[in-house]
Amino acid sequence: MQAVVDPPWDGDAWRVLARQAWCAGLAPEDLVWDGDPQAMLAAGPALQALPATRPPPRVAADFPALAAAVACHTDPQRFALLYRLLWRMASGQPRLLERASDPDVQRVRMLEQAVRRDSHKMKAFVRFREVPGRDNHYIAWFEPAHRILDRVAPFFARRFAGMHWAILTPYRSVAWDGEALAFAAGATRGDAPADDAQEALWRTYYASIFNPARLNPTMMRSEMPQKYWKHLPEAALLPTLLREAGPRVQAMAERAPEPPRRRIPAPAPEPLQVIEGLDALRDAAAACRRCPLWEPATRTVFGEGPHDARVVVVGEQPGDEEDLSGRPFVGPAGRLLDRALGELGIDRSRLWLTNAVKHFRFEPRGKRRLHRNPDVAHVRACRPWLQQELAALQPDIVVCLGATAAQAVFGSGFRLMEARGRWLPLEAARGLATVHPAWVLRQPDAAREAAYAGFVDDLRLLVEAGATP
Ligand code: URA
Repeated sequence: MQAVVDPPWDGDAWRVLARQAWCAGLAPEDLVWDGDPQAMLAAGPALQALPATRPPPRVAADFPALAAAVACHTDPQRFALLYRLLWRMASGQPRLLERASDPDVQRVRMLEQAVRRDSHKMKAFVRFREVPGRDNHYIAWFEPAHRILDRVAPFFARRFAGMHWAILTPYRSVAWDGEALAFAAGATRGDAPADDAQEALWRTYYASIFNPARLNPTMMRSEMPQKYWKHLPEAALLPTLLREAGPRVQAMAERAPEPPRRRIPAPAPEPLQVIEGLDALRDAAAACRRCPLWEPATRTVFGEGPHDARVVVVGEQPGDEEDLSGRPFVGPAGRLLDRALGELGIDRSRLWLTNAVKHFRFEPRGKRRLHRNPDVAHVRACRPWLQQELAALQPDIVVCLGATAAQAVFGSGFRLMEARGRWLPLEAARGLATVHPAWVLRQPDAAREAAYAGFVDDLRLLVEAGATP
């Protein structure tokens, strides 16, 4: 009995035939699988006409996906192999696919792997060229090793949804008009434009980013096999770039060392207009967009405390609990600060508590939001709020908790571990810097008590100076 799959890469068409064959009781050796659509006309109905003598086969849940991938392979034995596997699974070996040492399983996995690899390469190496004289119309020529066009076309439809494009291959072509995919017969390379203006641009860019020092030709040839080069505009450059890589690396090594290039600083945000009064400042800060941190954060966490506070305490940035409640130092670090203040007899409600950065910076991790240090650009963008807070409060003492706060107040050259725990001059006040309570909490068990004692000792200066009632 002959069974013909049409089209010969269609896993669903194969499944229909395979099910009929199984239900009719046809053993693998009773069937000849053939990919010739002409033969289908003669053989298909014959198979369909056989009476079903038993229920449909039961196979592993992942078998249909495996069969759909393997159907795209060009191996003429693929359907016979798939039917043998189906037969064996349905005849008492339901876990056959888990047996990695079985020769049929090994073979089918190899075919599946080859199709996946080919699909991946197609996604990576298809290059569209503009159709001359037609706006937003592109054509690509590609020669896949297997019949994967139907499998991969939806990827391009999603990726290039706004373009009109076609991909031509020797066995089949597909076009996307912005709404639907239409498949048609194969084509020849000459049917696709040979080059376009964008390619010259791309080649210039590619040559400029090509780093000869990172070249690994073996790896490159395995990732980008030479058979795909004909599809790539940059491929014309590769022989020269590869040939010149050695001398270029040598020249790089011989060149006198240069100081590392500085990162291009982010543009400084607009200056903040002067806002009179702490309440007006708080309102204005609530709508701050001076850096991107506002967007994922819940709210601006502005400073709080009495408007006549003589001591201002500056932290780094709000944490998770502060972001949710809108109040500074209410989470774990705040509780440790409260404990230290309590031990020193300092009344927290007499202090103004604030932060160098007023939005919570975090990285989502599942349901949690993990603290991330602010960048220099965030501190710089937020500094005018702190400056205006200090200008409005006119405190006698500014206490900085941690390096970020200290650098926001004393400047970026400030070294916390060298200058902590002593009075430091500020323009119209005295400054004091110590470690951040969150740093104390992060210390290993054996070191935490000592770190805490050092933190309390630094803050003791406030008591000795009679700075707090
Ligand atoms: N850490 C800070 O620096 N500030 C807060 O408000 C909370 C934790």
